[in-house]
Amino acid sequence: MKGTLSINVNGKDYEFPSLPGETLADLLRNRLHLTGTKIGCNEAECGACTVIVDGDPVLSCIYPAERAAGRKILTIEGLADAGILHPLQEAFIQYGAVQCGFCTPGQIMVAYALLQRNPTPTSEEIRQALVGTLCRCGGYPSIESAVEAAARALHNKVSVDPPMIEPSIHAQKVIGHSVHRPDALGKVTGTAIYTDDLVFDGMLFAAVKRAGVPHAIVKSIHIEPAQALPGVVSLLTAKDIPGEHNHGLVIYDWPSLVGVGERVRYVGDAVAIVAAQTVQLAEQALDLIEVEYELQPVVSDPVQARQPETSALHENGNLLKHIKVRKGNMDEGFSQADVILEHTFHTPILEHAFIEPECSIAVPTMDGRMHIYVGSQIPYSDRNQVARALGWADDRVRIIGQLMGGGFGGKEDITGQIHAALLANATGKPVKLLFSRHESLLVHPKRHATRIKVKLGAKRDGTLTAVETELYGDTGAYASLGEKVMTRATTHSAGPYEVPHVRADCYAMYTNNPPAGAFRGFGVTQSAFAVESMMDMLAEKLGIDPIELRYKNALHVGSLTNTGQVLQDSVGLQECIRKVQAEMQRIAGLEHPELPLFESHPVPGSPHLRRAWGIAVAYKNTGLGGGAPDKSGVEVELFPDGTFEVRTSAAELGQGLVTVLRMIVAEEFSLQPERVNVLVMDTDLTPDGGPTTASRQTYATGNAARLAAQSLRQAVTSFLAEKFDT
Ligand code: FES
Repeated sequence: MKGTLSINVNGKDYEFPSLPGETLADLLRNRLHLTGTKIGCNEAECGACTVIVDGDPVLSCIYPAERAAGRKILTIEGLADAGILHPLQEAFIQYGAVQCGFCTPGQIMVAYALLQRNPTPTSEEIRQALVGTLCRCGGYPSIESAVEAAARALHNKVSVDPPMIEPSIHAQKVIGHSVHRPDALGKVTGTAIYTDDLVFDGMLFAAVKRAGVPHAIVKSIHIEPAQALPGVVSLLTAKDIPGEHNHGLVIYDWPSLVGVGERVRYVGDAVAIVAAQTVQLAEQALDLIEVEYELQPVVSDPVQARQPETSALHENGNLLKHIKVRKGNMDEGFSQADVILEHTFHTPILEHAFIEPECSIAVPTMDGRMHIYVGSQIPYSDRNQVARALGWADDRVRIIGQLMGGGFGGKEDITGQIHAALLANATGKPVKLLFSRHESLLVHPKRHATRIKVKLGAKRDGTLTAVETELYGDTGAYASLGEKVMTRATTHSAGPYEVPHVRADCYAMYTNNPPAGAFRGFGVTQSAFAVESMMDMLAEKLGIDPIELRYKNALHVGSLTNTGQVLQDSVGLQECIRKVQAEMQRIAGLEHPELPLFESHPVPGSPHLRRAWGIAVAYKNTGLGGGAPDKSGVEVELFPDGTFEVRTSAAELGQGLVTVLRMIVAEEFSLQPERVNVLVMDTDLTPDGGPTTASRQTYATGNAARLAAQSLRQAVTSFLAEKFDT
């Protein structure tokens, strides 16, 4: 019938009125509520939205729904047969191919199509098939193994063979053995719920007017035509913020909305927010908002930002922090050196590119509170920042953390939570704010770009005598975690080596670039690149094997670090270097005899490329660092049915914290891990586990869980001893 759309999805026939411009992904997600089909980029780049149409994989985010008329659609929800998992789903669980899970439905559907047309693919064919389906958690080897295992199972008509995993030599009852993630089943069947999958009655949709200019003073904002657009329910500017105008993780320097007369400091700054009945109307309203700017000179580089003539971006100037490390005497160190090398390195801004873009939903409650549904790496900080923007006490806000499709440090700063809350407060209705991929790229903090100058002195035998570094970190428009990230870059800038004379000066500078903050490696990445490049140059200069050079200088038990810590125990670097060296020699001998270590060779067929391999070593703190004590809160409860619950607001963003906590508590009680449930990321129900940042959670929250479990075990033991008089 004209104007209707007949479609078969997962074996069921449906008929819908057709909507102009509707994509297959929208139809599946919004009309059939099949939210296993994920939207990562909405422009056919990431592959998360892959479904099968008449046997072929298609990217449903750009596939017109009308084109699917009369065709058979298979989504992740239709893959299991009468509750029995498809071998691909089974294998993804067994082989640990699921992390954050946001890419998983797309990966499985692409693999399904591959196995339909090629039941016995080679590794190379699997890689080729999955090349357009991105996994930012980096699970490719496990994904490939899972597809191979599923192919074997299907071909031989047997169940999926489990991977051969030897327990660790230090294995105890649970720790050291392989345990399946508790959230894997939902992630392979498409039933796992992420923030954008949630729908609330009467929900409005938000959009943000971004400045689009890097540095300017706002002269005027005209909102009347946008306000008059039918379907627009609320439009707010800075003057409508009831509480504090700025937010921030450490320093409150980031305006939630830039008002008239105020300074725009980067292109992603927000000047107005809209809530409307549909996303399209909200975006239409943005086009009707007129903002007049007085453009200012742009500060695009941290070295330029430190020049006295450069205009100040913040009240206290452009220097966020001068970070120093001092050890020994540099003149003495360099006078002892036979060789002195100097070089300057540059590292660029980097984007986390988690596959799930940021989404926040704010829901006002009948008792005058605000619930925020969001995937956040620091729920308690979100609560505090939202409450301050609303002018409320913290406990009127509840953060209800959702599954996260990756974060990698990029979901530590608050993004849409405050805007959604302001609009929900103004309208009295639930408000969803979902970033487009472009907005995600534009707005959230990145890895710091750096300029690192290294001067390194060594004796003829390779012994390091002195390392001097000068670092410039581009912290962008706002502080975010710039001070902490660049502190790590500075304290680690002489590498994991015993160096008697060290000096480091780091200037974390504000610029008009996007803010920079946390990102896997947390600052050490940049300085490790610089110092390890220098170690290779030194090895070449002295004619010493690069591995031996590193081994000779490596930190060991008893070493004094550059920040004055004597390493007492558990310093495995030298042992690690020897193991890596043995493995490199094994691979070089067995698998790549044509590639001797540390020599480069032309790539056959690509004369402009050369292939080589080498080694780099690095070390990094875990925890909030700076030598400060760290802390984390965990509750462990035993229920009458013999199951346990572990509660903490630490974040599960795909890294596996829930599994880790489950294992730790199960270990303490000698239990099957399945008897331990873990609840995370709810500020009403779980104590503060602190930020999920800088690789701290297994150590900090893991130890809190261990200690809580030990206390509980002690209490249970005492109770039973008394009761049974034994
Ligand atoms: Fe692939 Fe996270 S598991 S993106």
